[in-house]
Amino acid sequence: MKDQDRPEQRRRTRVRTTSASIIKAESGVEKTKGTVNRSRRQSPDPVEDLIAVLSQKVVGQPAAARVIVPYIQMYQAGLAPEGRPVGVFLLLGPTGTGKTKTIEALAEVLHGSPKNLLKIDCGEFQMEHEVAKLIGAPPGYLGHRETQPMLTQQKLNSVTSEKNSISLVLFDEIEKAAPSMTRLLLGVLDKGILRLGDNSSVNFEKSLVFLTSNLGAREMMREINPDFGFQSAQPSERTDLYSKLQSIALVAVRKRFSPEFVNRIDCIITYQPLTAESLSAILDQHIVDLQAHVNTRLGSRSFTLDVPFEARQFLLRKGTSAEYGARELNRTIHRHLTQPLATLVATNQVAPGARVRVDINEAEDKLNIRAQDAGIEAAPSHPTVLLVDDNRDLLRFLERLMADAGWVLLTAESATEAKRLMREHKPNAALLDYMLPDGNGVELGVEFLQAVPQMLVIVMTGTILPPEEEALCEEHNFPVLRKPFLASDVMNQIRSRLLPASGSARA
Ligand SMILES: Nc1ncnc2c1ncn2[C@@H]1O[C@H](COP(=O)(O)OP(=O)(O)O)[C@@H](O)[C@H]1O
Ligand SMILES: [Mg+2]
Repeated sequence: MKDQDRPEQRRRTRVRTTSASIIKAESGVEKTKGTVNRSRRQSPDPVEDLIAVLSQKVVGQPAAARVIVPYIQMYQAGLAPEGRPVGVFLLLGPTGTGKTKTIEALAEVLHGSPKNLLKIDCGEFQMEHEVAKLIGAPPGYLGHRETQPMLTQQKLNSVTSEKNSISLVLFDEIEKAAPSMTRLLLGVLDKGILRLGDNSSVNFEKSLVFLTSNLGAREMMREINPDFGFQSAQPSERTDLYSKLQSIALVAVRKRFSPEFVNRIDCIITYQPLTAESLSAILDQHIVDLQAHVNTRLGSRSFTLDVPFEARQFLLRKGTSAEYGARELNRTIHRHLTQPLATLVATNQVAPGARVRVDINEAEDKLNIRAQDAGIEAAPSHPTVLLVDDNRDLLRFLERLMADAGWVLLTAESATEAKRLMREHKPNAALLDYMLPDGNGVELGVEFLQAVPQMLVIVMTGTILPPEEEALCEEHNFPVLRKPFLASDVMNQIRSRLLPASGSARA
């Protein structure tokens, strides 16, 4: 898609309101008169596509994409008006609801990277003298050659791409800007031109200009907070809340900015507080992103992240905040998931190809993150252990200990019997005495391992093992327990090798 900017195709000029009147449009949007609904009908398909992609990235704010996309389409059709930016949008609403995210998502869709946008932090231009940083000092001023203006044509061009020649410009938190900055902005919105200190100019006719502001945010919070149940409110109550937030935002905007300033804005979009469903979709998005990040950064050493429903519910419970929106969710994910995961990886506790499972701990106040080697399905918390020995004293003692731990003990006195139990019960671990009436425990262990590769085999012996059996044990990583041993030694062996509950991976 290429833009055309031959003069005959740019003849259309914008109809502007002369009064400060703003007509109320579909939910979440206030439009000034003279918007571009007509162009939407001309070629609906690409527009709908772009709307769908954007709505997927910016969750729960359908109005934003619906309003912005037609302006992009108009520019690409060569129908954008001359002498002014392609579109000017004021984004209002509570913190962490996706205002900045919208422009990053647009940059990603239009240019292939969320970084392809020019962001001016108006908080940096609260004092009159700081405005020189933006446009550069005029000639004659001391050091004017050293002050590189922040807003130059070159900078504007550098955020476009081969895919698209439109530049996205974001003036963040405009209510903080010094009055002279607001005047400069007025020139940009009105004529699409910014004059720099050295008298050169920057052209905004190929730019979408976004202004964000938290004007009215405090009043909006007061509207949201007494009714903390808004998350589960009836749809009609929500619609009610939306229109209340919109009118609060508009009153605040009109109080702060002159009518001529407000009139140069094409659309005012009020972002809505995020619902529980939206937060849940954002969380899912983050987990998908985290996995993609692991895959690209770790390559062949990557692992699979497994975050079940309960763990997600935990993150949503901790990360829901009316005041900070999705920012609180981001912080919660970072604290409870990303950081502990990074520690596990940094300390080499996650083997390549491992499955990393995230569960809630017993106190339900944090997440347990455990790595399991590839091939081992979820480690059992109550393993089944097969004991093959004819020593009845040991057997009785172990039986009691394992029952206390909630484990299941199967016993056999011969290799033949052991094989039958093995087939029927598929135990997680086998404790095999070396000397069996009808065979030897080491060979039996090797046989078991062939059938169930992830099984833990421990060999018990009262004598020193012959060298070939010793070698087999080493080759297959069988721990060897020399009798006499404490029953607790057996338990600990199984615990440390089979149950990664302590948080460490199986070595
Ligand atoms: N509607 C949303 N859809 C997807 N992610 C969101 C949304 N709102 C907020 N977020 C997440 O929260 C972060 C902060 O949101 P941001 O857009 O910067 O908030 P603000 O509305 O204050 O500009 C984003 O980087 C994003 O991860
Ligand atoms: Mg923001």
